[in-house]
Amino acid sequence: MPQTGKAALSVISQATVFPEGEVVPNLQSLAQILYFSAGVTKRKTYPGGELSFRAASCTGALYEIELYLVCGDLPDLEAGVYHFGPADLGLRKLRAGDYRRVLVRATGGEPAISHAPVTIIFTGTYWRNAWKYQARTYRHFGWDNGTILANLLAMCAALGLPARVVCSFVDSEVNRLLNLDTEREVAFSMVPLGYISRLPAEPAKEMAPLALETFPLSKTEVGYPAMREMHEASSLLSEEEVAAWRAQTLVAELPAPTGHTVPLEVLSEEEMSRDLIERVIFRRGSTRKFAQEAITFAQLSTMLDRSSRGIPADFLDPYGAQLNDMYVIVHAVEGLTSGAYVFHRRRGVLECLKEGNFRSEAYHLGLEQELPAEASLAVFFLADLRLILEHFGNRGYRAVQLEAGILGGKLYLAACAQRLGATGLTFFDDDVTTFFSPHAEGKCAIFLMALGRSARQRQR
Ligand SMILES: Cc1cc2nc3c(=O)[nH]c(=O)nc-3n(C[C@H](O)[C@H](O)[C@H](O)COP(=O)(O)O)c2cc1C
Repeated sequence: MPQTGKAALSVISQATVFPEGEVVPNLQSLAQILYFSAGVTKRKTYPGGELSFRAASCTGALYEIELYLVCGDLPDLEAGVYHFGPADLGLRKLRAGDYRRVLVRATGGEPAISHAPVTIIFTGTYWRNAWKYQARTYRHFGWDNGTILANLLAMCAALGLPARVVCSFVDSEVNRLLNLDTEREVAFSMVPLGYISRLPAEPAKEMAPLALETFPLSKTEVGYPAMREMHEASSLLSEEEVAAWRAQTLVAELPAPTGHTVPLEVLSEEEMSRDLIERVIFRRGSTRKFAQEAITFAQLSTMLDRSSRGIPADFLDPYGAQLNDMYVIVHAVEGLTSGAYVFHRRRGVLECLKEGNFRSEAYHLGLEQELPAEASLAVFFLADLRLILEHFGNRGYRAVQLEAGILGGKLYLAACAQRLGATGLTFFDDDVTTFFSPHAEGKCAIFLMALGRSARQRQR
């Protein structure tokens, strides 16, 4: 596969690509995008057998997010609806013909979808994750879809392809196009890629049901009604509802700092790692043990700055808006007093909320795991869910989880590019809010990342 030659730290923070004319991906660029977002990048042998790990991190390595592709005729791929197989990097045709018009309608004429030669759709398969995590799987859809999207957006930026995360669509229409059994699998987000001026025509054929055989994941499945209810409650039912949803903007800024602030010291372009995006994704893995050593303030500043510059998404207008706030427990960062901080993105400063050694608190908050206690720092994403739900309705819940997954995925890449370790983590929701209060009062914990020097890297 050819290399893009682009540095990871540049492409993870690049703003939306605006097309200057038609941009149509070919099969090779699609292969690059799909492989580095959801392909198998490493295999590990255990006493019980072999485990395949993929390009993006995922709760429990259960990989419940599936990728589908809907395209018109591309230079070397016939128009159709395809399923992506990560194991063999293959596309399997589910429908022949151009069905992009179905997506234009389902998204209420979303401009990026209307002009995209190809759109990737992400679905979540309940049981694949729920056998282990039960009803909590519902939020995992957002996180695990999000980490894939962080890689995908970075690869698209590296290839100069316009891409945008679209969260608003008529669920039933998209599920029907993919012929999903919605008791088991549901569409969660989509990303239109590229740009062509001509709008797609109506499909030549009806969307008939597909008689596709699938292998059952288990002999029996346990139903967790809460996640299906949540999905249903956050579904959009008509084009009008979708258009109204997308017309909303929510720019929720943190209140001005009142405590001691420390300005970030972001590395300059010359000082920054030029490690290529493909190499970084290939090397990425979740740190299993941290070295309990300090990282530099410049490394921390670069990770925070590069991961939070903006995400092109239909729920984040204007570009640069963010639903999650980033709170940090600093254990060991050179030149920064240990303590709890909140990150003011727009101002580029960390505001100190309280000083102290909070390793044992981090151990507890991260579900009594050593990782957040032994890392150099832990970043907690918190959001004002009540405000988001008031604004976006129940669909806002999907958006806020998805955004956290994307931000977490970017942090993974920003850490790995600097030869640092990272891992996503689960947490005790309410205790996180209490720890960061009064500043975080009323907010909900959405996601957690531990960052630092990995013990394995030290041994090398
Ligand atoms: C949202 C999310 C939550 C995670 N939570 C934990 C956790 O609580 N404890 C843990 O040890 N690893 C956690 N992980 C790391 C996953 O176990 C890891 O991503 C997965 O095994 C795949 O391995 P890889 O990231 O090395 O490719 C989490 C990852 C993600 C994306």
